[in-house]
Amino acid sequence: MEYNFDLKVERRGTDSIKYGAYAEDVLPMWIADADFSAPAPVVEAIKARAAHGIFGYPLEEKIVEEAAAHWMRTRFNWPVKPDMAAFSPSVVTSLAMAVDIYTQPGDQVLFFTPTYPPFFRVARTAGRVATGCGLIPSTYQIDFDDLEKKMSAQNARLFFLCNPQNPTGRVFTRAELLKIGELCLKHNVLMLSDEIHCDFAYTGRHIPFPALAEELAHISLTALSPSKTFNLAALHVSAVISGNPGLLHRFKAAISKAAVHPSSFGLLGIKTAYTECADYADQLAAYIRKNQEYAVGHINRNIPGLKAYLPEGTYLLWIDCAELCRELGAKQGLDRGSLKQERLVRFFLDEAKVGLNSGTDFGDEGLGFMRVNLACPLDTLKEGLRRIERAVKSLHPFQG
Ligand SMILES: Cc1ncc(COP(=O)(O)O)c(C=O)c1O
Repeated sequence: MEYNFDLKVERRGTDSIKYGAYAEDVLPMWIADADFSAPAPVVEAIKARAAHGIFGYPLEEKIVEEAAAHWMRTRFNWPVKPDMAAFSPSVVTSLAMAVDIYTQPGDQVLFFTPTYPPFFRVARTAGRVATGCGLIPSTYQIDFDDLEKKMSAQNARLFFLCNPQNPTGRVFTRAELLKIGELCLKHNVLMLSDEIHCDFAYTGRHIPFPALAEELAHISLTALSPSKTFNLAALHVSAVISGNPGLLHRFKAAISKAAVHPSSFGLLGIKTAYTECADYADQLAAYIRKNQEYAVGHINRNIPGLKAYLPEGTYLLWIDCAELCRELGAKQGLDRGSLKQERLVRFFLDEAKVGLNSGTDFGDEGLGFMRVNLACPLDTLKEGLRRIERAVKSLHPFQG
């Protein structure tokens, strides 16, 4: 089936947090949900189910497990069997549960920074120590000395990997993943690999962390969800996969203890998306890549004060706004980084009228950065960039 991602769908008034968070004159390009309709087979399956009108308890029997295994096998050549998978309502739920299950209060949970904010939130909320391991600024290569130092702490217990990485867009190479894995093995650190952005890797086929080696499958769990690729976040359905039956058993036991179950719509969503909609995922990834190329080219050519680089993965763009941030701060005599960042955020919102994520939502390393969501029709992206360009060019000394 041919999908038309140029189609604009009105989202205001549809209980969307992305749109509801801002006034009507602001173009929202923040939270990671897409402005595209889910694949037609998913929409049709849900419509047919809704039309039946009876919403009793669903029969869950292995639907999530089979769908997740199918996607991993067919897309990434990772031979997952359904009994290696478990249901979880969302990836963030899986992160929070992993902290509860596999660590003790006072243990350290590690992750690369800048980071997807729930990585530190779920750790801190549970009374664990959230430890950021800094990626090297600008290139976002791994600082393996820093990583080893942090992993060797006696209470370092769990690593949250995000690959492809939100917000930087890095896709870690096989060599990097192997080296991270070696350190996990050496220092006895468990791996929770969040691979929710796996369908948006542009440096070659995505490599699931546990697929690298038997020993790594033994110390890891992978979290995935159709929510990003197929725009199904509201269906609250995701999966966890592990090659270690003991780890998986403990995860399933915690889900069972909390009595959490998928909805009929979630079951239909994951099954239909993962078994019938590979064409949608392929076409979408190609569309997003074009959006990224357009945005990076446009920003670097036409918008002074901003620098963008082509991400290796995700549908996000991590923009270096340091120069603009300095100028805005200097104008108002702001000295502290946090005040300058606040001014930067207000600039995008009040003057450019675009809703972006502040870089510092992702940790202090995000100072001077903003994150933009490019999962929208090209016309919408062009409109967002036009707004930013106009606002920047109306500033002295950027006046064109
Ligand atoms: C890296 C990462 N993990 C998890 C999520 C959220 O997943 P879920 O809605 O399944 O909790 C996001 C959403 O932006 C994300 O970027």
